[in-house]
Amino acid sequence: MPLLPELIVTPRLRLRVPDAADSGELNAAVIASFTELTRWLPWAQEPQTLAETEDYCRSSREKWLSDECLNLLLVTKSDGAIIGSAGYPRLDWEVPSFEIGYWCSTAEIGKGYVSEATYALAAHAFSQLSAARVELRVDDLNERSWRVAQRLGFQLEGLLRSDTRDANGRLRDTRVYGAVALQDLRSS
Ligand SMILES: CC(C)(COP(=O)(O)OP(=O)(O)OC[C@H]1O[C@@H](n2cnc3c(N)ncnc32)[C@H](O)[C@@H]1OP(=O)(O)O)[C@@H](O)C(=O)NCCC(=O)NCCS
Repeated sequence: MPLLPELIVTPRLRLRVPDAADSGELNAAVIASFTELTRWLPWAQEPQTLAETEDYCRSSREKWLSDECLNLLLVTKSDGAIIGSAGYPRLDWEVPSFEIGYWCSTAEIGKGYVSEATYALAAHAFSQLSAARVELRVDDLNERSWRVAQRLGFQLEGLLRSDTRDANGRLRDTRVYGAVALQDLRSS
């Protein structure tokens, strides 16, 4: 069995590994949120095709099974709608350390779903996966995203100046937020 979870349940959400049957609804959510996603996410530079979303769902399941990384869908408990994704896009089992990443459907922004999912992912990492460290890496210009980190109590550890280029080729400054114990964090 993988060490990484297949399902995490929060007060309002089920976070679960995608499967092929999710492709249509997930693709529609990505397309509907394109304007917001394309500004910040390298994988969202072109409108995603259904075949690409199917590949994403299949490879997410494979990567979960092999403990390589974790992509979970955000699914509302109230109506079962797919409203985004969150997970550990990068992890290091030697430390162990986990980076948390996320996106949310434009129509569902501003409801606290991402903070709720991020806290649950951090809590799972510390309590179930013996994490020594959980971190978020955010473009300094992406204020909505770094407000998630700050809301939950992640500590701003540094600003990596010109450490990468964004999807448009612009040099990007990256904020690094970290936590080394669940007690550092609050649920929102
Ligand atoms: C970054 C992103 C995920 C933030 O989404 P978000 O909806 O602002 O984040 P949350 O779900 O945590 O919601 C927080 C907002 O909901 C409000 N809110 C409402 N109910 C809430 C609740 N129960 N708990 C917490 N916040 C709540 C908060 O006040 C806050 O609003 P504010 O920012 O206007 O003050 C979203 O803008 C997005 O998907 N962007 C594109 C992709 C992206 O940038 N990904 C991150 C790359 S690093």
